[in-house]
Amino acid sequence: MIFDTHAHYNDSQFDSDRDELLASMPENGVGLIMNACSNTGEINNIIALCEKYPFMYGAVGVHPEDAVAAEPDYLDTLRRFSFHPKIRAIGEIGLDYYWTTDTKAAQQRILGEQVDLARELKLPVIIHDREAHGDTMRILTEHKVWECGGVFHCYSGSAEMVREITEKLGMYVAFGGSVTFKNAVKPREAAKAVPLDRLLVETDSPYLAPVPFRGKRNSSLYLPRVLDMLSELRGIPADELEAITYENGKRLFSIEAV
Ligand code: NI
Repeated sequence: MIFDTHAHYNDSQFDSDRDELLASMPENGVGLIMNACSNTGEINNIIALCEKYPFMYGAVGVHPEDAVAAEPDYLDTLRRFSFHPKIRAIGEIGLDYYWTTDTKAAQQRILGEQVDLARELKLPVIIHDREAHGDTMRILTEHKVWECGGVFHCYSGSAEMVREITEKLGMYVAFGGSVTFKNAVKPREAAKAVPLDRLLVETDSPYLAPVPFRGKRNSSLYLPRVLDMLSELRGIPADELEAITYENGKRLFSIEAV
């Protein structure tokens, strides 16, 4: 079975067929899905899907692009919903300097605050790091992320940084459709460097569909393409990687059943 450790099934791109698509997951080999959160306005919808589908778990968090808009009491909101039994992570949180750098201060502040909250709640963090590797590593280190653990989602850093993430920070590294892109030399080098017990797969659906579906709406049903690429890179059969990444995801998010 496949564990898609990062998806956004509340996105409006799924409005026309969300239930039909999600209902088809088990029969297509998708056993678990982590539904990530971008802002506090999404939390009720995330929890509704988690309650409807036994294979779906959720996270609560404020994405760096929503940093400036975060309400003064957003941490209280996250804390309150984090006690729902299917909420298993704080995320996605992090830094994104690709679209804008003039919100750096707000992004850094809410990242540190949310890592502190994750440590308090003993929940792992889901980290979004785009063009901000140095500051992300610095803040995660300053806020002792190893005390709660977590994952770098849709990893885009170097193979050297993989070693720091897995050995010094004790975190997991997740790869999605972008590892299949033609020019993805660096992500593929990084994917080879991750210890097997720290490796995860994800889609970031509806974004980042793998080749040959690039540009289309992504879904967990396309994850075999990512597992095939990792299999080629690692020289390990895809079904073994599927089982390994499934168990890794269960361990990270403390999912006992299935
Ligand atoms: Ni995401």
